[in-house]
Amino acid sequence: MSGEGGRHVHGAAGDGGPVTVTESPEGAEGPQGTGGTDRADGDGDEYADDYEGFEDFDRLALDRSGQAEAFDAIGDRYDEAFPHKDGQLAAGRWLADALAPGSRVLDVGCGTGLPTGRQLVDAGHELVGIDISPGMLKLARSNVPTATFQQVDIVDLRSGGRYGPGGSRELGEFDAVVAFFSLLMLPRPEIPYALRALRGLLRPGGLLALAMVEADVDDFAIPFLGNSVRVSGYLREELRRVVRDAGFEITGEDSHSYAPASIDVPPEIQLYLHCRRRV
Ligand SMILES: C[S@@+](CC[C@H](N)C(=O)[O-])C[C@H]1O[C@@H](n2cnc3c(N)ncnc32)[C@H](O)[C@@H]1O
Repeated sequence: MSGEGGRHVHGAAGDGGPVTVTESPEGAEGPQGTGGTDRADGDGDEYADDYEGFEDFDRLALDRSGQAEAFDAIGDRYDEAFPHKDGQLAAGRWLADALAPGSRVLDVGCGTGLPTGRQLVDAGHELVGIDISPGMLKLARSNVPTATFQQVDIVDLRSGGRYGPGGSRELGEFDAVVAFFSLLMLPRPEIPYALRALRGLLRPGGLLALAMVEADVDDFAIPFLGNSVRVSGYLREELRRVVRDAGFEITGEDSHSYAPASIDVPPEIQLYLHCRRRV
């Protein structure tokens, strides 16, 4: 995803495949990140929450207008516009191989279910996918029929949220969460909260596979496959900090230069982080 003026925000190379720029497993433990519960409504885990206003996460989802509608309209053109997903496949393979057979995985902002949902199911894992776009969910159900898909906003995964821990439609605990290019659809102030919500759905030591586009933007409107969507991002140092502060250890990292097939989406740098929930 990318906006006017060449600001990079999602996407492998349209001319035949992604170009790997670096492979830099961080290996080192994150120095901080004691992790966090979701809201301060009393039913979450204990964790040092140095994030002011964290209890307001539910009120942060102020403006989703157009986001689901854009993806509904994009439909299966999304997969045509973003071929050659070598970086994404490699990150999915890391997750699939790191998990015990039959692990329970949540795919956040699952899109069409391709390639990641199908990859995880083919590897023998149990997949639950969530997305706000009914159109994307319809494609995902058809592409990955043995998985479960539900229309859920990321914000409702928080503790006490409808689909989060303690919620009336709680999704339960997961061995892993994958969030490829979905948290970038949130305004920046929501991203740390969203990461904490994902942490709250993971068993201790559970894994997070995260993909973002490297970009210093917040809720930035971009033309995307004939629609307009708003995206956010960080430069990589900042992204690492945000992820660690949300209670994750970063165990590996990969970045790819990706040029989508579509001409209205310029090349971008994709960042893939391999993370583990700090206990
Ligand atoms: C760029 S696509 C990525 C899809 C898929 N994860 C992939 O890597 O191909 C972003 C997806 O996030 C979904 N999304 C955007 N905002 C969301 C939200 N607040 N809650 C849940 N899903 C959201 C969109 O509908 C879209 O399917």
